[in-house]
Amino acid sequence: MDDLKAKYLDAIGQAADETALEELRVQAVGKKGEISLKMRELGKMTPEERQVAGPALNALKDEINSALAAKKVALADAALDERLRTEWLDVTLPARDRRVGTVHPISQVWEECTAIFADMGFSVAEGPQIEEDWYNFDALNIPSHHPARAEMDTFYMHRAEGDDRPPHVLRTHTSPVQIRSMQAQGAPIRTISPGRVYRADYDQTHTPMFHQVEGLAIDRDISMANLKWVLEEFFSAYFGRSVKTRFRASHFPFTEPSAEVDIQCSWEGGTVKVGEGDDWLEVLGSGMVHPKVLAAAGVDPEQWQGFAFGMGIDRIAMLKYGIPDLRAFFDSDLRWLRHYGFSALQVPTIRGGI
Ligand code: DAH
Repeated sequence: MDDLKAKYLDAIGQAADETALEELRVQAVGKKGEISLKMRELGKMTPEERQVAGPALNALKDEINSALAAKKVALADAALDERLRTEWLDVTLPARDRRVGTVHPISQVWEECTAIFADMGFSVAEGPQIEEDWYNFDALNIPSHHPARAEMDTFYMHRAEGDDRPPHVLRTHTSPVQIRSMQAQGAPIRTISPGRVYRADYDQTHTPMFHQVEGLAIDRDISMANLKWVLEEFFSAYFGRSVKTRFRASHFPFTEPSAEVDIQCSWEGGTVKVGEGDDWLEVLGSGMVHPKVLAAAGVDPEQWQGFAFGMGIDRIAMLKYGIPDLRAFFDSDLRWLRHYGFSALQVPTIRGGI
């Protein structure tokens, strides 16, 4: 019996897997197993012999069974450990880049602008693309006789004869969103409004639909200095290097004073590089929101003041990503999109890099 015990405990200890273990179980304590056969022999023994051998055999059987059970658990644990080791997955790795179409560079830049301004406390406000002309013009201090209306090459929505509802236009700029967001939220307020705008114009540098991002910051003591800081902060984050700005006195009906803003660039070697050199490139219009505009939006100009700006998204996208022709943005040419487009997984964030 001692031999049997030593033999099986040793073999169980060395069993490599559950199949080997099962074979051992059959060999030892199965119906025709060695220990079971021994138990059958008990019948042929004298009662005295049986009294000694019986309990001993039972104890041996128990011992083998519990060794088998323990080994089974140990094998299962080892198998699980092995699986955990081989199926290990680093969930912090970036997902595999599978291109199913591309993100348009304008969408990418739109998101980049949103991420940078969000970091400075600006939220996103939206307005309709088919806009009442009051929001697009009158509320922005552009009355009907104002030459700016003609200059804007506005698309007017068709009205049936006898329909005397106020006229609607395709918004010519994102500035009407200033009015809508001040009406909705009052002051203080800090918003940007990226969106599509429309003008009846088409040549190498103009398309009838293009994109702007409007900025608006109204509080008790906001000044041009805050505007300059915000814009320089924006351009430096956007272009990934420090970018000087130049403010030129200008005129817009909805701001007083008004400034056009240029960014520093060089034209060396025939390509434009932002953030170096002695040349300047105009990228946006801005100024202190006109008191009449605040009043039209229901904000008391005696209490509140602030800046606004409007920037061309297409323009700054071309500058950053070296896209030479504006019209290509809207051609839907798949080869162009594959070349200039972005992976859907390259989501712009301040931490991940703009
Ligand atoms: N709305 C102007 C345009 O489309 C751009 C602009 C100029 C927006 C000055 C502003 C601003 O908010 O303050 O030409």
